[in-house]
Amino acid sequence: MNRIVAQAPSNIAIIKYMGKVDSQKNLPANPSLSMTLNRLRTEVELNWVPGGEKALQVQWIHDAVVAGFRSPSLSDAGIAKVSRHIERVFEELPVLLRSLGLSPSIPRGGILEIRSANTFPEAAGIASSASSFAALTLAAAAVLCRESLVSFLKAFEQDVRLKQSLSGISRQGSGSSCRSFDGPWVKWEGDQAYPVTPSLRMPELSDLVVLVGKGAKEVSSSEAHQRVLSSPLWRGRVERASRRVQDAEEAIALGEWKSLVQWAWQDFWEMHSLFHTAQKNFTYWLPESVAILKWIQPFVEKGECLVTMDAGPHVHILVSQERSAYWLHKIRDTFPGLEILEDTQGKGASLCLN
Ligand code: PMV
Repeated sequence: MNRIVAQAPSNIAIIKYMGKVDSQKNLPANPSLSMTLNRLRTEVELNWVPGGEKALQVQWIHDAVVAGFRSPSLSDAGIAKVSRHIERVFEELPVLLRSLGLSPSIPRGGILEIRSANTFPEAAGIASSASSFAALTLAAAAVLCRESLVSFLKAFEQDVRLKQSLSGISRQGSGSSCRSFDGPWVKWEGDQAYPVTPSLRMPELSDLVVLVGKGAKEVSSSEAHQRVLSSPLWRGRVERASRRVQDAEEAIALGEWKSLVQWAWQDFWEMHSLFHTAQKNFTYWLPESVAILKWIQPFVEKGECLVTMDAGPHVHILVSQERSAYWLHKIRDTFPGLEILEDTQGKGASLCLN
């Protein structure tokens, strides 16, 4: 089969990855911990059209529709990055695939068409690189095993080595994408990302993403990873974040929701404080972001919701799925002008076989 469709969800960090020790390989300065989402995801279709003597050409199909969603436009630099990433998968994965008894075959010559679409509106300004690179990595791996897809799928679902290796390759394209292969809870440390087992007492969660502002980011997350190193608050950050990851992992394992809420609150304020105190300081916060934070703080203190922000102005409010409709109304009543995306916790990347 020459046509492959894979999907991967976005993830929201509870304890943040910020700062790198190796920016070529996207190795993080500190461990991080995230919740995998479900509907906010990227669908990638790779279609190999064999033929011709020339080397394989990667072709990004603009304005395509994948699984009912329209693809966003991508710059030439973006397309080159995607193309390099596919080469990376083709170079790095076959050895492991062979050791798992699979028979990978790199497509030689012809055209590899890429169609990729997010299930969330481009204008929402939600970072899609995590979901895009995770879906792309899985789809490219499946292209290598296109003659034995069922065995590939079985290995993907049952052999942690394959998932970990895909996650590691994906990380080199986009750091936080390595946490989108599993779910709902994933810890990432160094070059490894793995699932964290929650207590049965942990509630099933929804993420209500309150969208604030729609413009492009002025400071990319890659730039943020560099600039934070110049903040006077950087000293001790790695130790503090590492400790919080340990504490958060324990809270998840024991079902101590209220503790998790506190670690998350501390950690995103700390990350944004690094932004605010970098030598060339910057902020992602907009007036509405601050208004939401002020309004929500008493609820966070009571442990009613978990709040966090990534490198952007949007505010993520995590609540139990049972209480999600109640919170949706409450937020809408208080901030009637703001759009809210609603998602739930999810299980990670998957291949669509049909
Ligand atoms: O994967 P990157 O390079 O886009 O970095 C993402 C960093 C944060 O979203 C701010 C935090 C995180 O851990 O996801």
